[in-house]
Amino acid sequence: MTKVGIVVGSLRKESYSKKIALNVASLFPEGYETEFVEIGNLALYNEEYDGNSPEEYTQFRNTIKEVDAVLFVTPEYNRSVPGVLKNALDVGSRPYGESVWNGKPAAIISQSISNLSGFGANHHLRQSLAFLNMPVVQQPEVYLANSPELLDENGKIKNEDTLQFLQGFVDTFVELIKK
Ligand code: FNR
Repeated sequence: MTKVGIVVGSLRKESYSKKIALNVASLFPEGYETEFVEIGNLALYNEEYDGNSPEEYTQFRNTIKEVDAVLFVTPEYNRSVPGVLKNALDVGSRPYGESVWNGKPAAIISQSISNLSGFGANHHLRQSLAFLNMPVVQQPEVYLANSPELLDENGKIKNEDTLQFLQGFVDTFVELIKK
């Protein structure tokens, strides 16, 4: 079984990112399983924790070590990545030389309640993942706009074209993971 960790950049119960991530999780083929990775419990990263890490840092790092790939689904905050997501990237990247992100295939979905579709967050995240040595799906890029209109009252994506587009994105991600 190939394991894909899903990291959502919003802690909100009713998060559109989370709802979209649940839709995308169901598009992976047989032989793949997805796991939502908790990031809201991670204390703000402090270098003094290196070598003496809080328990939740250790659990988080172990979870990422155990997955074969990581899917990031995130909103944009102030034209960038939400702090909680950046914090998780930082926690996973340390202690120096022991980054749990190193070499893990990754894919990014950004979403927004407006037309902007999280371009800033998507690309700032790409910048960090390049440095963290994560091969990232380049095409298709996924920027989802007007998220509330995309989902029905049960949180399902209504639009068949969007679902097909996301299926193609997942298929490309699976190909990257296989490499
Ligand atoms: C936002 N939002 C937002 N949207 C956007 O397209 N570009 C932006 O720069 C911002 N900035 C921003 C900052 C902060 C602090 C908040 C709380 C919100 C709006 C954002 O798209 C909206 O709240 C989404 O619903 C957040 O995603 P989740 O929580 O639904 O996953």
